[in-house]
Amino acid sequence: MTTLRSSEWYAGTDRNAYIHRAWMRRGVPSNAFDGRPQIAIANTASDLTPCNAHLNEVAQSVKNGVYEAGGIPLVLPVVSLGETQVRPTAMLWRNMAAMATEEMLRANPIDGVVLLGGCDKTIPSLLMAAASVDLPAVVVPGGPMLSGHFRGDALGCGTDVWRLSEEVRGGTLSTTDFLTSESSMIRSKGHCNTMGTASTMALVAEALGVVLPGLAGTPAPDARLLEASHETGRLAVELVAAQRRPSSFLTEANFHNAIVALAAVGGSTNAVVHLLAIAGRLGIDLTLDDFDRIGAEVPLLVNLQPAGKYLMDDLFRAGGFLAVMREVRDLLDPTALTVTGKPYVDYLETAQVWDPNVITPRDSPLQPAAGISVLRGSLAPGGAIIKSAAASPHLLKHTGRAVVFDSIEDFHARIDDPDLDIDEDSIMVLRGCGPKGYPGMPEVSNMPLPEKLLKRGVRDIIRVCDGRMSGTAYGTVVLHVTPESAAGGPLSLVRDGDLIRLDVRGRRIDLLVPEEELALRNPHKNLVDSYAAPTRGWERLYVDHVLQADAGADLDFLRGSSGPDVSRESH
Ligand code: FES
Ligand code: MG
Repeated sequence: MTTLRSSEWYAGTDRNAYIHRAWMRRGVPSNAFDGRPQIAIANTASDLTPCNAHLNEVAQSVKNGVYEAGGIPLVLPVVSLGETQVRPTAMLWRNMAAMATEEMLRANPIDGVVLLGGCDKTIPSLLMAAASVDLPAVVVPGGPMLSGHFRGDALGCGTDVWRLSEEVRGGTLSTTDFLTSESSMIRSKGHCNTMGTASTMALVAEALGVVLPGLAGTPAPDARLLEASHETGRLAVELVAAQRRPSSFLTEANFHNAIVALAAVGGSTNAVVHLLAIAGRLGIDLTLDDFDRIGAEVPLLVNLQPAGKYLMDDLFRAGGFLAVMREVRDLLDPTALTVTGKPYVDYLETAQVWDPNVITPRDSPLQPAAGISVLRGSLAPGGAIIKSAAASPHLLKHTGRAVVFDSIEDFHARIDDPDLDIDEDSIMVLRGCGPKGYPGMPEVSNMPLPEKLLKRGVRDIIRVCDGRMSGTAYGTVVLHVTPESAAGGPLSLVRDGDLIRLDVRGRRIDLLVPEEELALRNPHKNLVDSYAAPTRGWERLYVDHVLQADAGADLDFLRGSSGPDVSRESH
């Protein structure tokens, strides 16, 4: 048996070991420090992250499992991010949460960790932290909420907010009715029930192999979530005994399976930046092009909003994520191991689809090739992405005149101006929304359409942006344009009326302006003035060090791992 990391605090009879033990006693018997695995429960429960508020209850079940297996559970509250609340965007703080969690795991007498997340940025930040500290780690996704209903129809979190608010602007829904739907939107504990970022990252984390297989997607109020949490607590103790660390089983094969899963479920574009960031922590050479190469031809099998109709509790009822993965089993890398030590594909044998409306069979998919497409061209030399499953087929190959907005404020100020020169063939461009420019790369790329077009029944036009979009959004949106305008990307030089050509099948996005002419242009002063210029604090550190979207928007000095080494004594 290997010596536990925590024994560097607790073992022995000297003064320092006495101090480390004594302050932890408080009713705990001395055998808690006799060489038992010390398991942190990194908990993102917070009243200000309402999607994760129930994780305290989940933590109790994890604790029970840890005790049962002979370990000592220790709840460690970590930085938590409420997607709907945190400004200017939760993404600005993802790396901060990851850095703080990594350092607190390393600084403490911890041998392994159970990661409790849910709301969008929480699982990514926890996994980035765990990868960099490289202690045995396993995730418990907090689970989606149950579906709410409004006037007989299920309400999809996020997606239906966008849809209903467009209906108000288009004049087909009254403001009173819109506001009535508000209290039906969030029916229970748990995270958003569409295939937004939270659902996506929970399922992708399972496909990656860091969740007890079969757990992801279990609704937050379901008793089976607590059962699996208890089991995960037991597993965490085993992980320490086996010294199964993220670096010991996560390989390219695991990321391959995660990308297949992302496409098969029609997952959020945000998973691209998160997976790139996690891979960067592990030293795995994942690139934007891998998403296209591995995922582009994967069929869309899950009929969930925003690409489809149903919601997360329907997916669970229909057989759950394992049933989806079983359908695409031939596309998975069978060598990818999970945190249990067994290959992921071993868990697919008994999975079954119970409702083919929700999980469509492989031979009649919702879409035959649904993965995220990576575009390059003169407008995005470093790459851009589009979720073609959520786009309008008639716009996938299109040339249109640019209508340019220099900031989200500029957009809001002018979008409903009746004199704005825009029609259904135009291409809306929003810039200054990348990692550095905003800062934090907010979810603004799915710009609402101008009221005058909505009133004419137009429901989609092409939008191009260096920001992200909510995983719950839909439309023909080219996003994560790299380099961003604030980093000097060609996006900063586009002018109203310039022609932009999108060709998704050809994987191109081009600005049809001669290079000689572009060379004479400078970014407009209004645009430059809109860029973030923080003078202190985290924002300053972030803007100085953040990488572009194609590197997962991590900080340059946070890529890679520092490992779990114990630092020098504190006194
Ligand atoms: Fe928390 Fe959607 S706002 S998951
Ligand atoms: Mg989001």
